[in-house]
Amino acid sequence: MLTFEHVSFYYRKGQLIVDDVSFTIEAGEYVALVGPNGSGKSTIAKLMNGLLLPKKGSVSFKDLMTSNPGDLAMIHEQIGYIFQNPEDQFITTTVMDEILFGLENIRVPREEICMRIEHALQAVQMEGYAGAMPHELSGGQKQRVAIAAILAMRPQIIIFDEATSMLDPEGREQVMKNMKELHRQGMTIIHITHHMDEVLFAKRLLLLHEGRIKFDGEPATFFETVNVTDYQLDKPFSVRLHQNLHLNTPLTADWKEMIRSEWNAN
Ligand SMILES: Nc1ncnc2c1ncn2[C@@H]1O[C@H](COP(=O)(O)OP(=O)(O)OP(=O)(O)O)[C@@H](O)[C@H]1O
Ligand SMILES: [Mg+2]
Repeated sequence: MLTFEHVSFYYRKGQLIVDDVSFTIEAGEYVALVGPNGSGKSTIAKLMNGLLLPKKGSVSFKDLMTSNPGDLAMIHEQIGYIFQNPEDQFITTTVMDEILFGLENIRVPREEICMRIEHALQAVQMEGYAGAMPHELSGGQKQRVAIAAILAMRPQIIIFDEATSMLDPEGREQVMKNMKELHRQGMTIIHITHHMDEVLFAKRLLLLHEGRIKFDGEPATFFETVNVTDYQLDKPFSVRLHQNLHLNTPLTADWKEMIRSEWNAN
């Protein structure tokens, strides 16, 4: 559905940031994208929804191409992008306006707008906050409003670019919950993160290093076959537990569940 074909990109000529990258993400996938700082993750994310255009190769979404100016509006509408810093998200004065802004941009009919705002705020448990202003919200709440603003546009793919990195554990957990629920409802999720415990929720992991894809497969296989410290990444607790205790039960994000299932099998 979303296809990179031999994509190369640089900001300055001679300094390749994305180097001949090809992959396809299918509808309904939940993909984690990891890699060290500066490896090109955010650049890839911006190439995905046409905020940046490839210097070589092509990025297509269904039958639309980011290199085709006539397709860009549709691509922005279908592929939502949540930035790392919740402070960067807000461009208007209230939560309601923030969601409204996007909907007016894509010319949603007046009579549909109220319903979309209401549903989007419900989805992120922010119903009571339509009139709230940015400074009245916590970082986690701002991030959830950003998600609501994207949800209201009814995209097919949402890219979370380190959307949990500025949040405390509780805020992170709430955003993760939203992500999992959206995936359960069939949304395609692309999750860029440094929190390696979060990648265990994904079905597929892409490792980016020096502008190239170094691994593409299941997170469990990733932790078995790749030396994560080579890429300035760390092993989450449940992976260390699984490896150190030589558990037979499949690796999951929930270490308590893993222990329980190992015990029950014995
Ligand atoms: N607007 C820009 N102009 C010039 N160089 C840039 C620009 N944005 C990013 N870069 C460079 O491109 C490289 C990749 O940056 P990118 O933001 O894609 O990495 P990243 O993997 O998202 O990093 P992080 O984990 O720190 O978010 C870095 O070397 C960065 O300095
Ligand atoms: Mg980044």
